[in-house]
Amino acid sequence: MMQSVSVAKRKSNRAMTLGCKPNAETVVRLLNEALAREVICILRYKRHYFMTAGVSARHVKVKFLQYVAEEQAHADHLAERIVQLGGKPDLSQERLLNRSHAEHVEGDSLAEMITADLVHERISIDSYRAMIASIGNDDPTTRQVLERILAQEEAHVENLTTLLKA
Ligand SMILES: [Fe+2]
Ligand SMILES: [Fe+2]
Repeated sequence: MMQSVSVAKRKSNRAMTLGCKPNAETVVRLLNEALAREVICILRYKRHYFMTAGVSARHVKVKFLQYVAEEQAHADHLAERIVQLGGKPDLSQERLLNRSHAEHVEGDSLAEMITADLVHERISIDSYRAMIASIGNDDPTTRQVLERILAQEEAHVENLTTLLKA
């Protein structure tokens, strides 16, 4: 019995070494990357909200404001989970600058702004899918947080695509 426990432990240690099971530190790092992305999203939708003018674009303006609130909620959920895992939310200027330079796509016309939003949302979706895959079943709570956010990002892409066609 003792021997099998020790064999199981060795196997589990090996799995950790091979990176099969992300530990809390790795999860916190991934969550902080997502948090920085969400903060950039909040700012981008805020800019697009203020840049959108005219009666014909009123419904788009309302949508942008709704997205600001939803991206803010994503950021809050990520930050809460980071703290629950014993980490610290990292909103340092350096991290945000790196993130915004890496993903900078802008535009001033409504079509350009929505196109930029779609680019960012798709990057977000890919990142959340990759995070969920890497976490697997090791951290069901984090996974649930990420899956809820992912579902909303997918809805954003669907809505934005409809707005672009309108
Ligand atoms: Fe988001
Ligand atoms: Fe989004």
